[in-house]
Formats: sequence, C-alpha cells, structure tokens
Amino acid sequence: MLEFHDPLTKSRLTNKTAKHITFDSKKKYPIKSKIPIFASSPYVKAFGDQWNKFRKIELDSYNKFNESKIRFERIYGRSIKEIEGKDLLEAGCGAGRFTELFIKNGAKVHSFDLSSAVFANYQTAIESGANESNYKVCMADVNNIPFQENSFDIVVCLGVLQHTPNTLQSLKSLSKMVKIGGLLLVDHYSYDISTFSSLYLIWWLLIRKFPTKMQNAICDFFVKGFFPLHWRFRRNYICQMILRRISPIHFRYPALDNTYKTLYEWSRLVTHDRNTDHYKHHLTLNQFKKYVNKIGLKIIRAQVGGNGIEICAQKRL
Ligand SMILES: C[S@@+](CC[C@H](N)C(=O)[O-])C[C@H]1O[C@@H](n2cnc3c(N)ncnc32)[C@H](O)[C@@H]1O
Repeated sequence: MLEFHDPLTKSRLTNKTAKHITFDSKKKYPIKSKIPIFASSPYVKAFGDQWNKFRKIELDSYNKFNESKIRFERIYGRSIKEIEGKDLLEAGCGAGRFTELFIKNGAKVHSFDLSSAVFANYQTAIESGANESNYKVCMADVNNIPFQENSFDIVVCLGVLQHTPNTLQSLKSLSKMVKIGGLLLVDHYSYDISTFSSLYLIWWLLIRKFPTKMQNAICDFFVKGFFPLHWRFRRNYICQMILRRISPIHFRYPALDNTYKTLYEWSRLVTHDRNTDHYKHHLTLNQFKKYVNKIGLKIIRAQVGGNGIEICAQKRL
C-alpha cells in the first residue's frame, strides 16, 4: 500500500498515532475512528449524511443488480479481474459501491472522499474483506490528494467531478496521481434537450436553498407523495414521460421487476442525491474530451453512458 503524504506540501509521513498523523512539514492532522481527516467542507454535508443513511442500497452485493461492475467494466474496457494487484486510487468514494468491487477483485485500494461518507465506506470495505494490506481510506479534497504524484496504476473518479467546484481543476489534480502508462477513469453529467425540458433543475434550485436537515424531510415528503404515482403507471410509457418531466423524485423505470420496497428506498436515495448537491455541472462529450486533452492524457475510450459521459484515458510519456 502507498503511504500518505502531506496533501499540501507532499512531505513524508513521520508519525501516526491513534489520534493524529504527522508529516515532515510538521503538519498534524486528526484521525477520527481510524480515518485521517486531511480536509472537510460544508458543501458536501448532504452527501455525507446521505451515504451514512443509505449505505447499502447501491452496493451490488446488496441489490444484486451488478450495475456497478457493469459500469466500471464499460469504462475500463476490460474485465474487473485485471485490477488485481494494482495500486488504485478512488476519488469521491461515497458509500463504497465501487470500493467493495475493487477490494473483492484484489486491487490495493486507496479511497478518499471529502465528506463523512468515508465512515460508511470503511464499513462497506470491512464487510468486503478489507484489511491494512489492501485498503486505506481518508477524508480529503480531490484538489489536494494526500499521496505522491505519479503513483497509481488506476485512478477512478465516478459520479464525482460534476459535484466539485471546478471540473477541469479536479481533473488536473487527479491526472497528477496517475503513473506513466496508468489509466484515469472518469465520468460526468451531460446535458441534452430533456435536461432543460423537465423541471429537474428547477426542483434542485428550490430544494438546495433549504438547510440540509430540511432537505432530507422535503425529499422524503415528495417521495411519499409521488412514488405511488410512478409505481401505478410504471408500465405506461406516456404517463412515465409526463412524470419524468414534472416529478421531483427519481424512479428507476428499467428495474420494473424489483419490489416496491427496494425501489422506494432507491427513490429516497436518488431523490436526495439529485436535489441536494451543492455543485451540479453538465458537459457535452466533446467538452469533456477537450478537458481531458487539455490535461495531456491520451483518450482511450469516450462514450455516452451511466451518469452521462465516460472517459478512459492514459498517461503517456
Ligand atoms: C454522487 S457521490 C458518488 C459517490 C461514489 N463515487 C459513487 O459512485 O457511489 C459524489 C461524492 O463525491 C464527493 N465529493 C464531492 N466533492 C469532493 C471533493 N472536492 N473531493 C472529494 N470528494 C468529493 C461527495 O462527498 C460524494 O460522496
């Protein structure tokens, strides 16, 4: 496993106790429940609360949909088994839908998130068989990553960039972590006509104005009211189209064969996720490609899919 370095000066670790981690730079950071805290920010509070509340729902091991594995392999372009033994950095790890797969497939997993989601991530990792020889997690900012540059075979950042203050800046920071020959796997929200022909952004603009605690209650209130409607018309295409445009809640239309209870919980999670994020950027595939070209990586694969658009790029000499 790779050692932590001071995220600001990149100096080496000198001492680690149960309560603190110290570096050559004399910088000292607290450790909370075994997790080093290098940075935190109020803008990700809703994410932290969300992932601790709905830790399991998106885990492949819990919902059995295999979605995270399919999504990862589509971007990676190979079988997930090929990550075995590789130094992998996971930025914005959330509750661990990808972390559990990385651990189970034998990578050396270095995960971080800026929010308290790291505590949920730790729990997921332990349940997936993590130990000190294959997993490390910390609370850190994608713009100040606490590892040495050019260290990782694979850097993964899925579902995150659109929620950071500046996508290009975050991409630059991530690319510095990739070894020569290593891969950067990223995705981003995209936009098309449906983004602007529905009330999706209006609901977000309204709900995000409320304090975090109220946002939670508001989302639950909407799910309670709207979910039965979505469920009732889940096989009616016309009603689906209308509901998709006006409803403040998320409903998983393709997963029709799942139970009411599972889909209800999923709706609570994603409704919260899409209405409470502080930053929400959208890019076209061409704009995203331009960003990756700007940071000097070679695009191996760029496609529409998953969260919007996905890129696998390589660092070359
Ligand atoms: C939508 S969640 C995705 C989590 C996980 N990757 C997944 O796919 O389930 C976005 C995550 O990015 C994290 N995040 C946002 N800004 C960040 C930053 N500047 N540095 C690190 N993590 C950040 C949030 O705390 C949140 O957990």
